[in-house]
Amino acid sequence: MAKTFHIITFGCQMNERDSETLAGMLEAEGFVKTEDKNAADVVILNTCSVRENADKKFFGVLGQLKHPKEAEPSKTVCVCGCMMQQQHVIDTLKAKYPWVDLVFGTHNVSEFPKLLKGVRETNSKVVEVWEDGRAIAEGLPAAREYPFKAYVNIMYGCNNFCTYCIVPYTRGRERSRRPEDILAEVRDLASSGCKEITLLGQNVNSYGKVKHGEGSYCYLEEPGGLAGEGVDFAKLLRMVDEVPGIERIRFMTSHPKDLSDDLIAALRDCKHLCHAFHLPVQSGSDRILKKMNRHYDREKYFERVEKLREAVPDIALSTDIIVGFPGETEEDFLDTMDLVRRVRYDSAFTFLYSVRRGTPAAAMEEQVPEAVKHERFNRLIDLVHSIWEEKAADYQDKVLPVLIEGFSKTDASMLTGKTESGKTVDLPGDPGLIGQIVPVRITKAQTFSCYGELVK
Ligand code: SAH
Ligand code: SF4
Ligand code: F3S
Repeated sequence: MAKTFHIITFGCQMNERDSETLAGMLEAEGFVKTEDKNAADVVILNTCSVRENADKKFFGVLGQLKHPKEAEPSKTVCVCGCMMQQQHVIDTLKAKYPWVDLVFGTHNVSEFPKLLKGVRETNSKVVEVWEDGRAIAEGLPAAREYPFKAYVNIMYGCNNFCTYCIVPYTRGRERSRRPEDILAEVRDLASSGCKEITLLGQNVNSYGKVKHGEGSYCYLEEPGGLAGEGVDFAKLLRMVDEVPGIERIRFMTSHPKDLSDDLIAALRDCKHLCHAFHLPVQSGSDRILKKMNRHYDREKYFERVEKLREAVPDIALSTDIIVGFPGETEEDFLDTMDLVRRVRYDSAFTFLYSVRRGTPAAAMEEQVPEAVKHERFNRLIDLVHSIWEEKAADYQDKVLPVLIEGFSKTDASMLTGKTESGKTVDLPGDPGLIGQIVPVRITKAQTFSCYGELVK
């Protein structure tokens, strides 16, 4: 019988994409995916460290694996991802979870088959984490989650060091993939029937721009190829837009400080770029933005939003906001509320500030009390939701192209899909439509999702 595997993924799209690579490598070795984590021969927990909740969830799930591992010692328990790039996590694992078999990090995913083989053949425990990224590994297999939509990494790491954020420590310095490699992957996806791609990077707007210090790699430093033409993010988008078969292009995440006029022009011109833009603001207070090391102020943010809306009037804007950053006063928070009222986001991800060990903000005085954070958070959510509710009305009776993605989460007899703006639409229809983009009339527009019917 074939050996089985099960992967549990925490965190962002980067991790989801890495898990597809891990699954692809396991399938290449003859392993078969199972839905039962307790029965799997190989279990992988791909971790996230962005907020404390993510850490806690990981230790909770890991604890549940202790008994299955004791009952079946030949089972291999692997942990990887962002948490593993932090020494204090490795120390905790060694002290409290000595039964974990394999620990690796974000930079050596490509080494996984070799590490796993070593662990399983010699029955030993291995901890191998690299401190920073090396040359980008191309051509790794991937077992993609969906045939019709896919994530495509365009860069790895982050150089921004926002003072609250752990990502630059867990994902290392910024490295851009070669445009040729990205285009080859997109063409490959298109030829296998993929309709929608999402280009991934922590700061896609600086794609191709960063030259590195010692020991790191950058395609711009290679002779020949497209690098010589200075392909930045706007140019890359124009190239991806030309790939036949790809009908929707999304990307994330865009940092406001590097959002160029060229990118806005690409958004206006490219046929397949979705009219949706995720532009994390984090705070509406200039004082807090400075302490966060974001390198823009609210005026600059408003100016970028205005330019975007001028170029693409129907663009749907979304954002990330942190409430309760150290030193945030009621006045600072009211600036955030005011910014949200002015921009009127189509959607917003709101977070309570979470102290991340080793980041500059963790050492800042004036940490905001939990009760104050929660009270502000609730006010912000109420505002965000009331705006969504008002904006949802715009969808009523519209006919929009919807990519049918599967069955509705709330009613398995219905299909579910996404509009270009990212709004969820549930509708009755033939499962044969899954993976297709079809015209749908919105019959009931609600705050979080809509109902619709197929337009024949
Ligand atoms: N690179 C992306 C975001 C990566 S993390 C960007 O710059 O936009 C995703 C979101 O998590 C961030 O936008 C931020 O809002 C939130 N976040 C990051 N660190 C956090 C922390 N310590 N506490 C609360 N939220 C945090
Ligand atoms: Fe974190 Fe800032 Fe980098 Fe985004 S840009 S990953 S928030 S440090
Ligand atoms: Fe989490 Fe790492 Fe992504 S910390 S948000 S999984 S880059």
